[in-house]
Amino acid sequence: MSLLNWIEFQSLGDERGGLVALEIGMEKAVPFEIKRVYYIHHTEAGVSRGFHAHHNLRQVAICVAGKCRMVLDDGFSREETWMNSPTRGLLIETMVWREMHDFSDDCVLLVLASEHYDELDYIRNYNRFIASKKTRIVKYDERFLKLSWEWLNDPEIKALTMTPDFTRLQQLEFYKSLDGRSNYKIFGVMFGAELVGACGLKNIEAEVAELWLYIGVKKYWGIGIGREVVNFLEGEAASIGLKGLYLKVAVSNISAQTLYKKNGFKEVITEAESYLVMEKSFDSISNKV
Ligand SMILES: CC(C)(COP(=O)(O)OP(=O)(O)OC[C@H]1O[C@@H](n2cnc3c(N)ncnc32)[C@H](O)[C@@H]1OP(=O)(O)O)[C@@H](O)C(=O)NCCC(=O)NCCS
Repeated sequence: MSLLNWIEFQSLGDERGGLVALEIGMEKAVPFEIKRVYYIHHTEAGVSRGFHAHHNLRQVAICVAGKCRMVLDDGFSREETWMNSPTRGLLIETMVWREMHDFSDDCVLLVLASEHYDELDYIRNYNRFIASKKTRIVKYDERFLKLSWEWLNDPEIKALTMTPDFTRLQQLEFYKSLDGRSNYKIFGVMFGAELVGACGLKNIEAEVAELWLYIGVKKYWGIGIGREVVNFLEGEAASIGLKGLYLKVAVSNISAQTLYKKNGFKEVITEAESYLVMEKSFDSISNKV
């Protein structure tokens, strides 16, 4: 499906010149209630604009004068078009990355927006945008089990995740036991079509559980997948009524500690020497760790 969704407006012009009217409820209208209108004009030569996506905002862009080149990217495909007609609008849906290039001196790009301005709605980091489009949390099945064996036996990942020695048979028994367990949830992590890791909640009690995750494919470290997984697990925990989460992370695992801190986890003082315990409560109630 193309990203270039055009709305052809009815042209009401006559021999005197052009006229386009946009009215709520009319046929071929803008498919949302317009809460904000802005326009981009007199863009300096050689300057490109945009470079962001929105979580919730929908927009229709209309080039009312001049021209510019619009690039849209949904994380899977990238399409571009010249914006050069005042009688059609380009509908830009949520979670679509947009860039505008090659503005003519006289270009005026009018944008109709479905929401008021909200800085929190912007995604300005392209890697983060791609991670949130491509990261999928799915059922953990035999394919993941086989890969987990390889991932967790990699010396670096084994150390970072503090995984004890285990045999293939123990791993299979663990996998078979999962069906009957209510205190353990396990998921596979995919990036696009690729299986890249695993995550879950363990030691699930009435109010808290222990979060765990690893990305087994090293080339995907540091591109935002971990952040997506933590967000998912927090949602999962909240959905089963938990009040908070805790986790254990190796003292030497700085990247994981950074990830957790950036997601609001705080270190809990313990006597453990080789690992830190971190916790996050979803409300003000302090967690049992
Ligand atoms: C630790 C791990 C889960 C982090 O996931 P990730 O997808 O690589 O991390 P993200 O890209 O989502 O990064 C999230 C934040 O952590 C920080 N971070 C990630 N990698 C980092 C690194 N190598 N050094 C410092 N900070 C790092 C980043 O600052 C990033 O914040 P930003 O988006 O504001 O820049 C992942 O790298 C991994 O699985 N490593 C091996 C196994 C492991 O350590 N598991 C955790 C056991 S507790």
